[in-house]
Amino acid sequence: MKGSPSSNLRQPLEKELYEKIVRFRRDLHQHPELSWHEGRTAGKIAAALDDLGISYEAGIAGNGIVATLPGRDASRGAIALRADIDALPIHEETGLPFASRNDGVMHACGHDGHTSILLGAASLLVAGHELPAPVKLVFQPAEETGAGASAVIETGVVDDVALIFGGHIDRHYPLGTIIVTDGAVNASSDSFSISISGKGGHGGRPHETVDAVVVGSLLIIALQTIVSREVNPAHPSVVSVGTFRSGTASNVIADHAELTGTIRAQDPEVRLHLHRSIQRISAAVAQLHGALIETSISEGTPPLINPPAMAALAREAAFEVVGQDGVRAMVVANMGAEDFAYYLERIPGAYVRFGTVVEGHEVWPAHSSRFDFDERTLGFGAAYYAALARIAGRHLVGMPPNDVECRMPPDRETRKGPE
Ligand code: NI
Repeated sequence: MKGSPSSNLRQPLEKELYEKIVRFRRDLHQHPELSWHEGRTAGKIAAALDDLGISYEAGIAGNGIVATLPGRDASRGAIALRADIDALPIHEETGLPFASRNDGVMHACGHDGHTSILLGAASLLVAGHELPAPVKLVFQPAEETGAGASAVIETGVVDDVALIFGGHIDRHYPLGTIIVTDGAVNASSDSFSISISGKGGHGGRPHETVDAVVVGSLLIIALQTIVSREVNPAHPSVVSVGTFRSGTASNVIADHAELTGTIRAQDPEVRLHLHRSIQRISAAVAQLHGALIETSISEGTPPLINPPAMAALAREAAFEVVGQDGVRAMVVANMGAEDFAYYLERIPGAYVRFGTVVEGHEVWPAHSSRFDFDERTLGFGAAYYAALARIAGRHLVGMPPNDVECRMPPDRETRKGPE
């Protein structure tokens, strides 16, 4: 999606604060750390919170930090804002003056930006009026493993959180846009492995065997019909076989084959349907060919789904920061996974995207060695979270909304039509 987001696009932060969070981001970018090893990063976050006089707990699920800002009414819980802080095992090739100094490690998903955005929001919130409800700033480790959010939840640190919000830098959208979507934002990500046992034998005497290569091949083709013929095409989903290992010699019929693959869905019911169909088709192919097939599915990240009421709060905050032209809905379904989904399984909230395309760099996606983003998005993100902390807080404690009336733009795209 291209085009000018807003005719009156201006940096929402004052110059001094903006430059401070850019410096912070560049420092993190230069010193990226892998999941579960974010010790220096955590130290920098702690120092920044100390500077702001914000109290926090460190060592949450490893290197996580959770800071708390007091609010007027704590009786209904807190508003949480979450940033992920880890980097990826990628050798950076951006050529930026502040490129990674940790060889083979890179902030290639913008988590350096997410961390700076949340610290920018913290600065705005401590400098502002009393908050309606307490605000927890969750600096989460190990998002890239898919396990960081669950680890944070297990510590109990979000037990008192009533509403939770997060966001991701996204180079598909122009600077000065915030993408707020009702419903699915990211897909679930599960994996499967299938073990096929046939009966090996001589390549010239197939009638004496149960050929695991042939059974596996037929199974792969049959699995393609789940998405193409069983799932409503309006619900994006994927079943992909990633590996197929079998056989030892050209004149030997294999007695064994192993398949592994990934399963993606944006709807919990579709997700369940995919799991059941893989099991059913595997069992049927086994019976059809007299083979033994064992199928195991391991559940990964659930789908990330914004409840419309929570997306409305996010939209209201985005509207305050980027105006009507800047608030957009997602154009294309994202089949990648995001572990923020674990929070949303338990706590109402919403996840947005911050537009940040760099002219000429559009072709370098997140998780690429040349991934880069327009740093001006940091200011929009920080202002968004600061606005959201107040809007969501007022909503939580039942205060009337400030002066923002019902002038929200509707989602520009209707993704789910009537069945
Ligand atoms: Ni990411």
